[in-house]
Amino acid sequence: MTKVKTVYVCQSCGFQSPKWLGKCSNCGEWDSLTEEQISGDVGKKRESVGPGTGEAPCPITDIQVDGRERLRCGIEEFDRVLGGGMVLGSVILVGGDPGIGKSTLVLQVLNGLASQGMRALYVSGEESAKQTKMRAERLGVEASDLLVLCETAMDRVLQSIQDTGPRVVAIDSIQTVFTPDLQSAPGSISQVRETSNRVIGVAKSTGLPVLLIGHVTKEGAIAGPRVLEHMVDTVLYFEGDGGHPYRILRAVKNRFGSTNEIGVFEMKDRGLEEVHSPSEIFLAERPAGTSGSVVVPSMEGTRPVLVELQGLVTKSFLAVPRRTTMGVDYHRVAILVAVLEKKVGLNLFDQDIFLNVAGGIKVNEPAVDLGMVCSIVSSFLDRPVLDKTVTFGEVGLTGEVRAVAHSESRIRESAKMGFQRCVLPKANLEKISPMKGMELIGVGSVEETMKVLF
Ligand code: TYD
Ligand code: MG
Repeated sequence: MTKVKTVYVCQSCGFQSPKWLGKCSNCGEWDSLTEEQISGDVGKKRESVGPGTGEAPCPITDIQVDGRERLRCGIEEFDRVLGGGMVLGSVILVGGDPGIGKSTLVLQVLNGLASQGMRALYVSGEESAKQTKMRAERLGVEASDLLVLCETAMDRVLQSIQDTGPRVVAIDSIQTVFTPDLQSAPGSISQVRETSNRVIGVAKSTGLPVLLIGHVTKEGAIAGPRVLEHMVDTVLYFEGDGGHPYRILRAVKNRFGSTNEIGVFEMKDRGLEEVHSPSEIFLAERPAGTSGSVVVPSMEGTRPVLVELQGLVTKSFLAVPRRTTMGVDYHRVAILVAVLEKKVGLNLFDQDIFLNVAGGIKVNEPAVDLGMVCSIVSSFLDRPVLDKTVTFGEVGLTGEVRAVAHSESRIRESAKMGFQRCVLPKANLEKISPMKGMELIGVGSVEETMKVLF
């Protein structure tokens, strides 16, 4: 057996050190050294060609694709987010906050597959078999083809995959499994990368689909800074607010389907239930026909998210009226108020203005400008904006409405959430093909927007 050695490699310059250092002694970068594994026979002469698939190049037209390469678990919302089921040999990462329902979702997915007679292996590194069984009883999971393994050593997990020959595997979670070949603790970047690498190798060589559950850091990324997201085929985020029962499953990356699909679930006492018309839920929470409330499709990274802006404009009794914002940039609001004063002729100088993003979310992109303007005007005039309407666009200092990026995915997300009208920058409208069930109204200035919406 070859002995496995580890070295610490600087991620910015490639410098190697046998010990961990806080500062790279070569390039001076702080906290850039991570543990990496090298095989013991580094000293030996390498074979002329390294390991690999050993396949010869072949014309792309000759490659055969089997049409039935996807496994459907029967939970429609889940299958759809993946683009029609799990592709054989694909590795799917499911991330989300603690307690959001990742284990529940994955167990239900495996149950769906197992009840079709496909053997499924659920590896739990966090809960005992009894705990898993108790959860399964709540969910009504009773397929005998669903195997449960409580194990944290990656090598043993791979061994049992070989021994039991499942059609699908789930590992809950990737941060709890480890390999003794690395000294660092389970959950550290190098452990996560190494263990995922091994299971990905198995998935690719045997065509076994693998679901990995990943924890999310405080910043909202899957722990193991992005390394995991690059390695896997599909990244799903399971999100929701602890305060309400709705959960959204989103594909952030998908090598085998679109990333525009979302799946909506409701957490009940007997597990997750599919929600087929999410727009109703969204509208139910919003006070319809109320002045000051405007819905904006905002991008969060690569994902469009619909947020509700709430504005309140009231007569001020202070010498310097108040401008209070929550979730949006204070200075941006000050600029927009000035534009409204000068270009639209609204007298806001003696008004207190409050602007809030419902749900405690922060939006920080120019595309919400137009939404903020509409919200302020709507509250000032005490007139609600048109029903089932979203709006986005950047507002310039001369009152012009400028184009923003990702207009199509914003509109698509809005349509998916049940909105029927979108007020957007004229320049964006010119580049978009008409969409069914969505009326698109292009505007060139703030004044024009006011005419359309009020
Ligand atoms: P879980 O799947 O353990 O979350 P994660 O793996 O993401 O940490 O879900 C835990 C929460 O879900 C817990 O707070 C209880 C709730 N829950 C239900 O409401 N109904 C159910 O049937 C189950 C199994 C869990
Ligand atoms: Mg869990």
